[in-house]
Formats: sequence, structure tokens, C-alpha cells
Amino acid sequence: MLRLVLRLTGAVSLTAGAVALAVGCGEAEPDPLPQPEPTEVTFPPEFLWGTGTAGFQIESGLDHTDWGIWASLPGKIAGDDQPNDGPDALAHIASDVGLMATMGLTSYRFSIELARVYPTRADFDADTPDVAGLAAYDELIDALGDEGIEPLVTLHHFVWPSYVRDPTQPTEPQGFERDDTVALFESWCSRMGAHFGDRVDLWVTLNEPLVEASVGYLASIFPPGVSDTDRLVAVMKRQVHAHARCYDALHETDQTDANGDGAAAMVSIAKHDRVYEPFDASLDTDLDAVERATHFWNRWFTDAIVLGDLDEDFDGDVDVTGDPALVGRADYLGLNYYGVSRVGTLSLELPHVGPVPVQIALLNDRPKTDLRWDIYPAGFAVVIDDMARYGLPIYITENGLADSEDVNRSRFLAEHLFEIGKAMLRGVDIRGYYHWSLIDNFEWAGGFCPRFGFYSVDYDSPERTRSATAAVPLMADIAATLRLTQATIDGLPAYLSAPAPCEGF
Ligand code: BGC
Repeated sequence: MLRLVLRLTGAVSLTAGAVALAVGCGEAEPDPLPQPEPTEVTFPPEFLWGTGTAGFQIESGLDHTDWGIWASLPGKIAGDDQPNDGPDALAHIASDVGLMATMGLTSYRFSIELARVYPTRADFDADTPDVAGLAAYDELIDALGDEGIEPLVTLHHFVWPSYVRDPTQPTEPQGFERDDTVALFESWCSRMGAHFGDRVDLWVTLNEPLVEASVGYLASIFPPGVSDTDRLVAVMKRQVHAHARCYDALHETDQTDANGDGAAAMVSIAKHDRVYEPFDASLDTDLDAVERATHFWNRWFTDAIVLGDLDEDFDGDVDVTGDPALVGRADYLGLNYYGVSRVGTLSLELPHVGPVPVQIALLNDRPKTDLRWDIYPAGFAVVIDDMARYGLPIYITENGLADSEDVNRSRFLAEHLFEIGKAMLRGVDIRGYYHWSLIDNFEWAGGFCPRFGFYSVDYDSPERTRSATAAVPLMADIAATLRLTQATIDGLPAYLSAPAPCEGF
């Protein structure tokens, strides 16, 4: 869901960066001979097959959050859709886990919502969690455990309780702009590690921090709904420290190796990385914009939490190297991949920020999703290889598409999984794949129109009935056989364009 990136004035060469990190400064190696495309890919038995969701997008009863308030403001959500009309996941725990088990899934990524566990600031300060709120997540994690499905828990997926971020007061400091929010988040992580650590090993601290910051502080279509680049960059710097302190808190409090793989806690972020293309490849300005966007969007945060290298003024040069408060704070990297953006002189230019990439309705021949985003599996290889330079294991924490007619998901899934298989053949250590999403959900400012679910939800039925899309048996087959052939992909229906696209952003 990328919308915007900051401008970097220094040029950072994609190729040069890759070489420097991968092979150091030694002599150039000869180009390897091109390898024939594989006709099949396979996956190891321990590969995790999962789906992902986020609390606010599937649960009801989170009105006391920034997003609950935001959604109640007229015109903020397409069709003025209301999250409480959504899939009501906490009322369907057993049956939804049953859907995963039927598919043969082995992992599930979901978020634990701070506002559900601590509905008021007084509850948080006194550490008196809401009994029913905590019990709901206990029930979910235990139900997953009964089916042998490994939880991957996100501790912040875009949503704050209204006592942390109040979108009715956008001119006041909100969220990480407030001086006490990093410490609050650290305590939250510590408490969740202590409570759930005996059953959870895989953690995501922050989901897509740069998306949350840029869409809230530039595009102004997420809370707090402002357009202010000074505030944006202040938030981003707090986010890296919030992640690092959450990382430390989880390692301190989760010392139980629940899945028996030798690691009690595996902690990272879910990072939204994209391919950037120039509007005009013959213009140096546009090529430069691609390099700056790639550096900022795909590497700025990861450089900070893996290498401790912080480009504080966003000029493309590292200002702090190996910061001990940041370095080494990722045990793996979570990659959310949704595609490609164009950037260049045709983009809107913002102070501090520069050209704004565009992802909707790009003028090319690629098939589009219902949100008019390009379907671009080949780009997956680009971002995977770029992330692999850090030398950490990778989990694909999100990948999916809006497909209300259920015509494109099977081919999309197979082509993206094939790219993962090919990356593993190249030696990239990819440990799992989480398709976004298990069920249709509340797609933020897009409301209910974009349908991302493996299972579609009938929002008109009181039971919010779930129905399998065509991709469900395909995913089940690949997860069971650990194998995917090019012939299988060739046999799937060709992509079709959405007859009635959803409002994109
Ligand atoms: C977010 C999800 C969202 C998905 C599709 C990701 O950026 O993490 O919450 O539903 O994109 O837009």
C-alpha cells in the first residue's frame, strides 16, 4: 500500500550498493552464464505456509482507537464503510482456524491490538489488562496451537488507542511524536512477550512503519491526517528506536523456545519494499529519482535496524554508523511485496520529500488488480535479492491482491510462489510465505471494496459467511506437495482486468 517516499538528494547506486554489501570491494567477478529457467520449484518441509491479517481490519469493537474515530468521520473511508460491519473475526476464532487447518497452513500472522488489551490509558498505566480482550488472543493462540499452526504476532499494525493518537486533534503531537510513546511501546512489547512468549516465537514489532508514517503525515489519508514533512521525519526517527527497544524487550521477556527450533524469539519488522521505475528512462532526473526512492523506501529503515546506520537528514549519506542502540535489531527480515511504482519529474514534488511515486493505473501492459496496482511477479525477485544483501533469513510477511471476481488470485499466487522458489534456488534463505489475506477485510481508506481474502466474506449475512476462492485448493496443494511446476502455472486462467475497480490510493 505504498503511496509516498521521501526525497534523497545524494545518489545511491542500486548496483554499487548490492556489490558492496554482497562481495565487499574485491575484484569484479565475471558475469555468471545465464541459467535456464527451472521448470519446477520445491520447498523444504520446514517452510512456513501462512496467511496474514491485522486486528483492526477483521475485528469489531475497536471504536476507541484512532482508526475507529477516523472511520467515523465523513468522507475518510470509501463508501463510508464501517469496520464494525466487517468479518468479526474474534467471533469466528474456531472456524477461521479450521479454515487454515483445512488448507494445510502451518503459520498465521495476526496482530494483537493494544487498544483491546488496554482500552484506557489508566488500564495501561496500572497494567490491568482487559480480561476479555486478553482472553480472546489467548483463545486464538491456543486454537492455533491445537492445529499445529505457528503464530506470528504483530504488535503494532497501523492502529493506536485514541489515548495515543487522536485524529480529532491533528495539530497536536500524535503517536510517536509524543515523548512518552516509545517507552509506552517498549512496555507493551515487554508485557506481550511475558504473557505470550511461552507460545509465540515469531514477532513483528511494527508493520510497514514508513507506510503508516507517510500516508498519515503526507498523503493525509491515515490518522493523524496531516501533510507535514517535518513531523513525518520526526516520527520515522522515533519508529526506528521504538522498534529497537521493542526488540530488546521481547528478547528479555520471551525466553521460551515454543517451536523447538533453538530460538526463543525471532523479532523483526514487516517491511514494505517496492520496485521503482522511472517515468522516463531517458531522463537522468528520473533515474536519479529511482535510486533515491529505492534507498529511502527500501533501505533507510533496514539499514538502521540491521547495520545501525542512520541517514538522519535523508540526504543519502549515513550520518551515524553502527549505532549501538540500533545495530543488530533484526533476527530476520519480513518482506511485504505488492509491486511497482513510478517515480520521476512527473511526480508531485514535496519539500524534504521530493518526487512522490505513483502506483495506480501505471501506463503499461501489465495486468492490474482491483486497486489498479500492477501485477508484477518478476519484480518480486528484485526486492527479494535487494533484501537478501543483509544476510538475514527472510519471511514473506505479506503478498496478495484485491480480486473481487476471483479471477486472478490463483495465477498471482502461483507466479509469486514460483519467484520465491527461484530465489531459494539462487541461495536466498526464505523461510515462509504469508498470503494477504486469510479473509476479506477492512482495507483502510479503501473500505470493503478491495477483496484480498483467500476466503471471501458475505458482509450481508449475519454470520459473515466465508467462502473459499479458487486459490484455496491451489495453496493447499502446493503446501502439501512442497512443489510447484511451470506446467501448473501454464494451466491456470490468464489474468483479467477488473471490470469495476475499487477506489485506490
Ligand atoms: C498492509 C495491510 C493492507 C495491505 C493491502 C499492507 O500495506 O500491511 O494492512 O491491507 O497492504 O493494501
